[in-house]
Amino acid sequence: MALITNVSDYEELAKQKLPKMVYDFYAGGAEDQWTLKENKEAFSKILFRPRVLIDVSHIDMSTSILGYKISMPIMVAPTALHKLAHQEGEVASAQAAAAAGTIMTLSSWSSCSIEEVSSIAPGLRFFQLSVFKDRDIVQQLVRRAENAGYKAIAVTVDAPRLGRREADVRNRFRLPENVVLKCFEGLDLSKMDKTKGSGLAAYATSQIDSSLSWKDIKWLQTITGLPILVKGVITAEDARIAIECGVAGIIVSNHGGRQLDYLPATISCLEEVVREAKGRRVPVFLDGGIRRGTDVFKALALGASGVFIGRPVLFALAVDGRAGVRNALRMLRDELEITMALSGCASLKDITRDRVITERDMIR
Ligand code: FNR
Repeated sequence: MALITNVSDYEELAKQKLPKMVYDFYAGGAEDQWTLKENKEAFSKILFRPRVLIDVSHIDMSTSILGYKISMPIMVAPTALHKLAHQEGEVASAQAAAAAGTIMTLSSWSSCSIEEVSSIAPGLRFFQLSVFKDRDIVQQLVRRAENAGYKAIAVTVDAPRLGRREADVRNRFRLPENVVLKCFEGLDLSKMDKTKGSGLAAYATSQIDSSLSWKDIKWLQTITGLPILVKGVITAEDARIAIECGVAGIIVSNHGGRQLDYLPATISCLEEVVREAKGRRVPVFLDGGIRRGTDVFKALALGASGVFIGRPVLFALAVDGRAGVRNALRMLRDELEITMALSGCASLKDITRDRVITERDMIR
């Protein structure tokens, strides 16, 4: 195998290895895929203002998320159907995250069950919740996540309907026989419309509740004691409401460019959300387009308490299973470490706003 030197190398190799339908499903974004590209490109417009002659012989990247200590501010975002990449699926990704000392978020669209992942993989996990029309299913999922020891619920709020990913339409994306949406297994499948796409997937998609609103966030807080994070807030207005609702954290996300196209890059939305949350003790996280330790540093400098990565995990999993994901996480960690050293930051608290310069700063 070619020597892998950064996480983007995994994408190239995964493209060669995976069936086109699967690669496109993982890699693709909505419609013109403008936001998909912009998520990455916006990072390249943020530059550094390093300080020199600071002792960086010991770099501490450890941090605490919702009270849980992790080795670095880089966590695993929820992404669907890891078994399309590798037969061990989410179990392998969770094992790699645990070995890296960080948090893995399991998707409601996972191909390994909530319990399978928690019983086989040690470590800290969050559960990503898609709110379905049938609130009994939602309650069951939350209860299962609680019982299996997941530490938080990340409710996805940017997907009242699924975005239009044209590659999936062109490829007539279908789930292979051997891959199942585990959160739906055992439910009344007689309601499934077998004529549309892959039966179970079409059923699950049709069950997304597009009436979801802030009152449901309040309802969720009544059915669980777990902290609730909202995933998919990108404006100050929504950040304010989320904080008023008492959420435990906000994830600035545009779903990796898979939902509404022509949204700004998440890194461009981060500061307005951070400004709103400042002083309220609500941590703000970011996902979208993180491919380098320098990207992680930039997000932290602009106020994120941590970041989540999506596609790099899927591509590394496809190429080399658990070892691949472990290596991808290690490479990002090492890159963050060298970025910190070369910027004069010995710990995460040293990564302050003045260490980066954005396009807006240059206009001022
Ligand atoms: C996702 N994402 C996602 N989000 C979510 O809340 N529930 C989900 O089931 C999924 N599934 C999913 C599948 C695939 C293939 C991708 C690429 C993404 C979005 C994900 O959590 C995250 O927001 C983005 O992946 C972050 O962007 P990057 O790191 O992929 O650029």
